Amino acid sequence: MIRPHDETATSAGGLLAKLKRRQLLRLGFLGGTTLALTEFTAILLPFLHVQKLTGLGAKVQVGSKESVLAKFRSTNDTPILNIEGRFFLLHAPNGIIAAYRKCTHLGCTVPWVPSQDMFQCPCHGSQFHKKTGVVLGGPAPKPLQLFHMSDTGSTLIVDTNPLNLIDRPSNEFNSADVEVKV
Ligand code: FES
Repeated sequence: MIRPHDETATSAGGLLAKLKRRQLLRLGFLGGTTLALTEFTAILLPFLHVQKLTGLGAKVQVGSKESVLAKFRSTNDTPILNIEGRFFLLHAPNGIIAAYRKCTHLGCTVPWVPSQDMFQCPCHGSQFHKKTGVVLGGPAPKPLQLFHMSDTGSTLIVDTNPLNLIDRPSNEFNSADVEVKV
């Protein structure tokens, strides 16, 4: 007489265990899915976030022509570095040019060396002229490349798009390459 009761108890216990297992499986599945979604979102987020272009590639305002010339006058024509845009403003013979800091030999960043009064590449020693970026020595095959420039009247703008450079295949200064004349 007790047996049916026992069977009922056993089957009830089994059912409970089954339910618990199912709940655990469901919880595990939900947890795993949530974790996967979170990781997926974290990976995608940087690509979805549109960043404002401020450095190389942007159109950089460098101040009025008069203010740039005044700075050249007060510094014996020392090139003016723009770190973010990766260029130097140079006081060319007939205007202002923006020279890309990338060495035309193998692409190292070219610094201005005040003690030498010229640009000197730290990698293999190429030297470039202070006012024109023309090669003075070393293995560089051509002058520093130039960024396009324009003058709005209130400011000069340097277009630092590296895909749209003024390339100077022969090692000489050509006044026609100067877009901001003085
Ligand atoms: S990379 Fe500048 S001299 Fe070689």
